[in-house]
Amino acid sequence: MDSVSRFLAAAGGQPVDRPPVWMMRQAGRTLPEYRALKERHSFWELCRSPELAAIVTRQPLARFEQLDAAIFFSDILVVPAAMGVPIDFLPAPRLASLVVDECDVRRLVEPDVERELGFVRDGLRQVVAELGGRKAVIGFAGAPFTLACYLIDGGSAKGFVKTRAFAHQRPVLFQELLGRLTAVVGDYLEMQLAAGADAFQLFDTWAGEAGPELFERFLLPSLNSLFQRLQSRGRPGIYYVNGIGPLLEQAHLTGAAVIGADWRVPLDEVRRRCGGERVVQGNLDPAALFGPPAEIAAAVRRMIGLTGGRGHIVNLGHGLPPEAPLTGIAAFLEAVAGWGG
Ligand code: CP3
Repeated sequence: MDSVSRFLAAAGGQPVDRPPVWMMRQAGRTLPEYRALKERHSFWELCRSPELAAIVTRQPLARFEQLDAAIFFSDILVVPAAMGVPIDFLPAPRLASLVVDECDVRRLVEPDVERELGFVRDGLRQVVAELGGRKAVIGFAGAPFTLACYLIDGGSAKGFVKTRAFAHQRPVLFQELLGRLTAVVGDYLEMQLAAGADAFQLFDTWAGEAGPELFERFLLPSLNSLFQRLQSRGRPGIYYVNGIGPLLEQAHLTGAAVIGADWRVPLDEVRRRCGGERVVQGNLDPAALFGPPAEIAAAVRRMIGLTGGRGHIVNLGHGLPPEAPLTGIAAFLEAVAGWGG
């Protein structure tokens, strides 16, 4: 099977010769060839240049032939930036102005994504022209709640207490904020699918902080409308949460084709608690890449054993760590590519 057929068959729950594999955060951070580009360009320059973003997107595929998919190189925070909030990467993101009250929510621009984020469309078109048909191309966006965490807390704050307090103190305004973000994220993902992405991933990295009650009350309605809107495009959507364990029953209701799990929950449990037939993505502990290659291969076999290799897109349970050894990455990918049922 070629990579695109393998990826799309797995996403549709159809039989495959072996499960497809890619790694969250495979583009950027880890590879020496990315670091070399970073010597000459800032992170925003890399994101905002379609040519450079396309080059970074292809770097991991040039190095590791086993990868079945390319995730487009960008960042979830291009969306708040397009909504008028200046953002610095140090490299941890820092937002210049925080959302505190009505004025701040209403000051957020609803941008024309084709104009403000056209660099992503153009970069994606280049990647599709170069890799399309050979490798699956994945677009992505931050989910509304996770973007709200950055807008309200200002950076990667532990637990995002301000964001959760906002939801409790100002529920109507919080809903309005999520609504505005949902509209822009929807436009943005539609633009990426129109540019040729085969699939998309919605990163709701911090949704685990919300817990089941806030999830059902605030996140679920916005996620439902988002996945429903994108369904007409007929491309699979992956919903990823870091710390999804306590939220699996709720995640099942979002309407995502694929549930992406972190390493804290076994994939057979993910499938069982998401209706029994669900396509799953994940979920090797990224820290396992630091262990000996034989252990990595054994962990990969145990993980795929939990799904039988069907309806399973193999991935890490969170992003590839910047310091991950290339030998560990190679052992992970070779073990998946060599899986024999
Ligand atoms: O997956 C990929 O390889 C595509 C590129 C990608 C980046 N960010 C590039 C990046 C993707 C998919 C993201 C998503 C993202 N960004 C998430 C969700 C996924 C996750 O890891 O949970 C989040 C929470 C962000 C916000 C963000 N951007 C943080 C917290 C940071 C700093 C720490 C870090 O992750 O490196 C960034 C900066 C960032 N985004 C870098 C890269 C390559 C590092 C910038 C640099 O090279 O200096």
